Amino acid sequence: MALTGKRILLIISGGIAAYKSLDLIRRLRERGASVRPIMTRAAQEFVTPLAVGALSASHVYVDLFSREDEQDVGHIRLARENDLVIVAPASADLMAKMAHGLADDLASAVLLATDRPVLIAPAMNPKMWAAAATRRNAETLKADGIHFIGPMAGEMAESNEAGIGRMAEPLEIVAAVERLLDGTARPLAGKTAIVTSGPTHEPIDPVRYIANRSSGRQGHAIAAALARLGADVTLVSGPVTVPDPAGVKTVHVERAEEMLDAVLSRLPVDIAVMVAAVADWRVASSADQKIKKRPGEAPPPLQLAENPDILKTVGHHDKRPKLVIGFAAETQDIEKNGRAKLERKGADMIVANDVSPETGIMGGSRNRVKIISAQGIDEWPDLGKDEVAERLAQLIAERLAGA
Ligand code: CTP
Repeated sequence: MALTGKRILLIISGGIAAYKSLDLIRRLRERGASVRPIMTRAAQEFVTPLAVGALSASHVYVDLFSREDEQDVGHIRLARENDLVIVAPASADLMAKMAHGLADDLASAVLLATDRPVLIAPAMNPKMWAAAATRRNAETLKADGIHFIGPMAGEMAESNEAGIGRMAEPLEIVAAVERLLDGTARPLAGKTAIVTSGPTHEPIDPVRYIANRSSGRQGHAIAAALARLGADVTLVSGPVTVPDPAGVKTVHVERAEEMLDAVLSRLPVDIAVMVAAVADWRVASSADQKIKKRPGEAPPPLQLAENPDILKTVGHHDKRPKLVIGFAAETQDIEKNGRAKLERKGADMIVANDVSPETGIMGGSRNRVKIISAQGIDEWPDLGKDEVAERLAQLIAERLAGA
């Protein structure tokens, strides 16, 4: 059977379409999946936990603060012990909570805690689906890697309005589940990857350091996107304020030399994506004690020494990963400099971007990149950093499959 042994967590939120979730449970179980249901409070106004429990042959989880439920598996295990999370129907309210990371009930807490793929089947009134807030939330969720099925066009159950908002039919949802779980959506399963991200801090003395404007957003998003495609990802991050991405092992370092050690100690891997804005120089001999001002004396000179080039080291290593990808932060001659870096650093691909201050790319949330490789140059449009990450992860999967 197509879904034999697959463990599915089904979250039912409030909406008239919840009646179709009963049939969805049957269809999933017919194909060999086990279904563990969570119902929101609103869902219980439309279908009963009794019916959901009977069809799923499982306990129905309804309450974040139920001592019994928490002792049984607990919301963190509920979030993790499955192959896929389905939200059907996904109400406008639950989508809004997901997009904003709210976690004030069991369904939203589990969605925030999960590191599994999530498929949502939105269902709502067409006006609610078209509303600016829902549009924004849907975009955010897509950029976060949430998979969508529907909503479909057609008649609404509760009114004679037509438009986009009807929940996908159970068999359409099952087909989406099969596509997601048959491996094609996880083309990097079994592959290992290292991603570097963020700036490095190079100490001058115990309280001062040299740094740069990198936020780590792009590198962290790439690590998360590779993990969503099934790769086993280690992220080596310099000091950043963005959170560690879900589903990724994050190693925190400060200096370029520490970053190099962390990367080399994890070779061999299949994929290396070096996104960090590694400081080119460190202070040749940083002081053990805070350097004091000396009235009347000239300021202390800063003697710099060159840092190791992590990308170049990996690109020429005898345990070189199959695919080595670097970034090129440029303020001029982007293509020419990008090509030169491809060559010099032994990379298969360079993601070149213009980091001139007026672009707002360094430290910002958007990016406009050119992909430079032996195959030529591909120019991508202005995209959110999450979308750049998603596309790059797909491209990596394709290149690896072709290699
Ligand atoms: N990089 C690295 N280690 C360094 C410097 C850079 O791994 N010490 C990597 C970056 O992670 C990025 C690529 O090299 O993937 C290019 O970084 P960039 O700063 O654009 O290039 P530089 O080597 O610093 O070259 P230049 O200063 O000439 O622009």
